[in-house]
Amino acid sequence: MCGIVGYLGKKSVVPVILESLQTLEYRGYDSAGVAFLEQDCLNVYKASGKLNNLRSRLPVELFQKNGHSRHLGIGHTRWATHGAPNDETPHPHVSCDGNIALIHNGIVENFGELREELTRKGHIFHSKTDTECVVHLIEDLAKTETDFLKVLQQVTRRLVGAYALVIIDKRHPDKLYGVRNHAPLVVGIGDDELFLGSDVVALVEHTNQVSYLQNEEIVELSPEGVKVINFNGQPVEPLVEKISTGNLAVDKKGFKHFMLKEIYEQPDVLRNSLSMRLLSPEEPIQLFDEAADAKINEIERVYVVACGTSYNAGLVGRYFIEELVRIPVEVEAAGEFRYRNPLVDEKTLVIGISQSGETADTITALRQCVNKGAKVLAITNREDSTIARESHFVLPVRAGIEVSVCATKSFAAQVTVLYLLGIYLAERRQQSSPELLKSLKVGLQRLPVLVENVLHTSEEIQTLAKKYGNVRDLIFIARGINYPVALEGALKLKEISYIHAEGYSASELKHGPIAMLDPSIPVIAILTDGIVYDKMISNCQEAKARDAQVIAVNSGPMPEDVRDTFEDAVFIPQLEEMLSPILTVIPLQLLAYHIAEYLGKDVDQPRNLAKSVTVE
Ligand code: M6R
Repeated sequence: MCGIVGYLGKKSVVPVILESLQTLEYRGYDSAGVAFLEQDCLNVYKASGKLNNLRSRLPVELFQKNGHSRHLGIGHTRWATHGAPNDETPHPHVSCDGNIALIHNGIVENFGELREELTRKGHIFHSKTDTECVVHLIEDLAKTETDFLKVLQQVTRRLVGAYALVIIDKRHPDKLYGVRNHAPLVVGIGDDELFLGSDVVALVEHTNQVSYLQNEEIVELSPEGVKVINFNGQPVEPLVEKISTGNLAVDKKGFKHFMLKEIYEQPDVLRNSLSMRLLSPEEPIQLFDEAADAKINEIERVYVVACGTSYNAGLVGRYFIEELVRIPVEVEAAGEFRYRNPLVDEKTLVIGISQSGETADTITALRQCVNKGAKVLAITNREDSTIARESHFVLPVRAGIEVSVCATKSFAAQVTVLYLLGIYLAERRQQSSPELLKSLKVGLQRLPVLVENVLHTSEEIQTLAKKYGNVRDLIFIARGINYPVALEGALKLKEISYIHAEGYSASELKHGPIAMLDPSIPVIAILTDGIVYDKMISNCQEAKARDAQVIAVNSGPMPEDVRDTFEDAVFIPQLEEMLSPILTVIPLQLLAYHIAEYLGKDVDQPRNLAKSVTVE
């Protein structure tokens, strides 16, 4: 996690760095810091908490946009891995001699032994962070080597872990250095200015020319240009790409929070995800080129690996793909999958789902599968991400930039792409009847408008949020393809309101959780027309019999005689059960949003979290 930026150019560095950091705050907001050169002085400012705390600590003259000599600097926004967030742990960290300042994203695993060694050599540490040992290590190696690129090469030989580093050294006042090893780092090339950033979103305000550093590369930016070498010291020709900046704009568009804006963007997101893939219900789904088509259709089983919301999307995909394609589909949390030597081979399609494409556990799990010869498909919102780059095939979900830490529209887009993939595979394998596939395609085309209808429940849900917002615990239940939606509803609520919530298969209630029920624990039940509707009603009645207040999210009409089982009910349009998760999840997203808002929580930047989990 952590957002890092570096700037070398003619503008006043502090405003540029702060603007860029603002766009990276989704990567962590436990603390922030900047360092910049001013004549022969290295200035460093840090503050715990959000960027605004840092901003208020900076002298006002630093924000003047012209007329002075601060043109080289670095900035960092942090998600704490080592050391509690306080005034010492923020980056940049500075060497004992005050020459070098460094920022870091990742984890240095052998920092303990390095720290011991460097302490013995007389280095004074000011924090317990893993990062601080790197700046002392650079300082130490620079005592005997004046070529800074060579120093950095030596540093990489000593570090174990994943890291992106950005460094400035007062003795090289027109040079900005970066190192990449399993954590993203992008070079931005503007008019007479150069940037480094952990994500292109930090650069798009300034340039559309970027070069993605690859693993094990070191870069030196200077007025002469961009010089890249690999960890062995061999020169590498940087590949400069022109990116389209439109869909990377970060703007609330009049909504109070990014999360609400992103919930409301879902109809358009679905239209984008379906566009050019589902042309008409009569035509087969198009997802890949001919070569990829042939390879993907050799597969005999599917594994989905993902984390958090993307994992829940994968669970929906499992129900759908198994049902339609009749091949086994397993879904596993990437952080577990990677530690159990999974049985995958060239007949296995491993699908990595990741909004950011930078989730460390998912990246590692997919790499293992590439090494084992499996076919790896990335379903991601970021075509420029590590996961997209390292997979054999990519299906972009096209949700547009998602800023709120709490994922909403990316879930809808991921599930839509999994639906398309399921229908695509079923068509190629001639599994499932053409009538069923056609009716699912008709249903998919109706989705954007149906989602618009569900969004009209927002006010009603706001009322429910006030009624139930003060509870300590809340339970979500569902069955079948909506069971993952119960998990997703609980995850949304936990992460932004800090209310304890659990999602269960309704069938599991009576195997334990029902013991907790009493009037203080509301139960939210998702009921969709289909084979489990009656069973769901029975499960809700069992909960009501234990005095729980049961709230229905019901698709279509509800039989009159069961209406009094429910304390409250939200009605949403009826749709094929297999497609219903895209609709049923929306009231749960809105409920989480309105409860968090009612409780005065920080909706877009919940405590302890970061949007992109780039550490294991
Ligand atoms: O970027 P990814 O989809 O790989 O992220 C996975 C999870 O970290 C993410 O979905 C997380 O659970 C969200 N904050 C949930 O809202």
